[in-house]
Amino acid sequence: MTAPRLTIAGARKRFGGVRALRGVDLEVAAGEVHALLGENGAGKSTLMKVLSGAVRPDEGRMTLDGAPFAPTGPRDARRSGVAMIYQELNLCADLTVLENVTLGEETARAGVVQSAGQRARLSEVLAGLGVAEFGPDTPVRDLGPGDRQLVEIARALMADARVVVFDEPTSSLSPPEVERLFGVVRDLASRGVTAIWISHFLNEVEAVCDRFTILRDGESVGGGAVAESTPEEWVALMSRRAGAAQAARAPRSSAGPAALELEELSGPDGVPDRVTLGLHEGEVLGLFGLVGAGRTELLRAIFGLDPVRSGAVRHLDHHGPPLSPRRWLARGVGLLSEDRALEGLHLDLSLAENVTASSPRPIGRRGEAFERWRVELGVRAGASSDAARTLSGGNQQKLAIARLLHHDVRVLLLDEPTRGIDVGAKEEIYALLDRLRGEGRAVLVVSSYVPELLRVCDRVGVMHRGRLAEIRPTAAWDEESLIAAASGATPAEVLHG
Ligand SMILES: Nc1ncnc2c1ncn2[C@@H]1O[C@H](COP(=O)(O)OP(=O)(O)OP(=O)(O)O)[C@@H](O)[C@H]1O
Ligand SMILES: [Mg+2]
Repeated sequence: MTAPRLTIAGARKRFGGVRALRGVDLEVAAGEVHALLGENGAGKSTLMKVLSGAVRPDEGRMTLDGAPFAPTGPRDARRSGVAMIYQELNLCADLTVLENVTLGEETARAGVVQSAGQRARLSEVLAGLGVAEFGPDTPVRDLGPGDRQLVEIARALMADARVVVFDEPTSSLSPPEVERLFGVVRDLASRGVTAIWISHFLNEVEAVCDRFTILRDGESVGGGAVAESTPEEWVALMSRRAGAAQAARAPRSSAGPAALELEELSGPDGVPDRVTLGLHEGEVLGLFGLVGAGRTELLRAIFGLDPVRSGAVRHLDHHGPPLSPRRWLARGVGLLSEDRALEGLHLDLSLAENVTASSPRPIGRRGEAFERWRVELGVRAGASSDAARTLSGGNQQKLAIARLLHHDVRVLLLDEPTRGIDVGAKEEIYALLDRLRGEGRAVLVVSSYVPELLRVCDRVGVMHRGRLAEIRPTAAWDEESLIAAASGATPAEVLHG
């Protein structure tokens, strides 16, 4: 019998008081797509950082194709054939695809020098990935998130990767891009490359993965063949919560008066494009659309983060151009940004400071404010004095939500509020939105996850190329009609096929 492609045995890692890994075993065969599942903070990313040389484990052994494997750093791991496709892609927009792919592979030499061989090899790799729309000389700036991810994958293949790790790879892709990525990963597997797939979307696991391993609180607690088990069983294994019961939906009362109105709001370059809508008290209004449809731009324009060309916003006694973020917050209007690292959180400040920063509420004991939200939102974290940077991806998102709620806002603009959030905690956030609605607050929520919009919204609008195409009550939409409308089908086509 040949050795497994990868084994990890007894991996342990402690960060101060947090035991991120408490004994993880993992075994993956060549040509296998292996799902790594677990709640927020379970240790998935940490384990993959150990594998890719970014974090040194305290204990544990690894083998790669039967040989001991103990990378001294990411470069060393990459040379051995272990590559990470990062959640936040790290390519230089100013360089071409070829320059990016060869960057860092050079020895200390002035500038970036590519041989004709590398160019030919890259063309071959891109063709193998089915890429026809761009080539080695395309500037990365011209590529969308899906194509950039393919560049990262090409970079891994150029380095003869044996193991490619995908950490939440679909979070900023449109449905067709997700489908394409599934095809690429299956194709890599058929060529003997091993893929490790981390995701909170269990349908993705069913679609592309062969086997799975589940982490809970830093320990591997189960695994097996995807075909021989069910998502319900995976969730039960992952969960620390006793039977995360699906919260009953609060009954929909009819929405109250308008809380925020947009009149023909337009951005300087036509995104958003003359968007008019009314958001009511006691309402959750969803915005669906493909990546690039202008939903994030719309929220940013409303909140005064991006300039507008024309149009107005009405809120209480204000009628005119959008206010500044500071003034909006003072009026009880808050934004949860899509990019929590850039404007959602101060990663170097403590957890407690993040919750209370710029809050109009009396500061009181900062630690207490954080503790309250830690319990309410189930944040897995160390001490309230730890830096926000040390939280896992999903727990950072919860911290950003806590910060907004601590401001006691009446109008919430939420951009992808459950991105990176695990299955159980998603349900908690939905219940929270139900509660906010019940309290008469108004929520405008952008999401790319259709089941979520259908679950939480009273009405859903679809954006396409900067325009708000159509708003309907949620009951008048389904998955198919939403995706059709987002792709630009006219309402008649949506209704009549
Ligand atoms: N550098 C660090 N310093 C302190 N604690 C850390 C550090 N890195 C990770 N942790 C902690 O280790 C635990 C595991 O985090 P990890 O990022 O591996 O979780 P995850 O399974 O990837 O979660 P998610 O699904 O939210 O991405 C968390 O409690 C996290 O706060
Ligand atoms: Mg993670």
